[in-house]
Amino acid sequence: MSAVFRLGLPDEAATLELGARLAGALAPGLAIWLRGDLGAGKTTLTRGLLRELGFTGRVKSPTYTLVELYSFPRFNLYHFDLYRFADPDEWEDAGFREYFNPGSVCLVEWPDKGGGLLPAPDVVVGLDFCEGTDGRSVRIEGYTEAGTACIARLNASPV
Ligand SMILES: Nc1ncnc2c1ncn2[C@@H]1O[C@H](COP(=O)(O)OP(=O)(O)O)[C@@H](O)[C@H]1O
Ligand SMILES: [Mg+2]
Repeated sequence: MSAVFRLGLPDEAATLELGARLAGALAPGLAIWLRGDLGAGKTTLTRGLLRELGFTGRVKSPTYTLVELYSFPRFNLYHFDLYRFADPDEWEDAGFREYFNPGSVCLVEWPDKGGGLLPAPDVVVGLDFCEGTDGRSVRIEGYTEAGTACIARLNASPV
């Protein structure tokens, strides 16, 4: 079974649509890293995912607050943006470690800025700009049993 999912994303609507598909493949406990340069579409993907789960409010990157909580019947979803993360003590003081638990889903933009503080990811999403077009491409890989199962559900989901 392949634990990789790839797709071309020609426009913003395609990124939102992939977010909706990913929403259908989620399970409580997943830690998902969102990698990609500034403007690659990490927050757009998160927005599509949250809308599919039923959230109707405004979704923006929690760049200054570092994390935003969205409560759903099946799980709490924590959306991190570590772009401005600088103080490792804050990680413990704010109790971020406890956000990664079997009952929650965590989506993390700029995971590499968290250094060694973050747990290992189940799923890593990589968004890239497509040279010569306005679009993006995405590669999603599962690294654990739970992550691999998520990728399998994603691959099996209707387009
Ligand atoms: N597949 C895509 N093709 C073209 N533009 C896109 C695509 N996905 C998202 N965008 C646009 O890219 C911009 C930046 O997206 P954003 O999600 O804020 O990036 P990030 O969170 O990675 O910094 C937004 O204006 C969005 O509309
Ligand atoms: Mg963002």
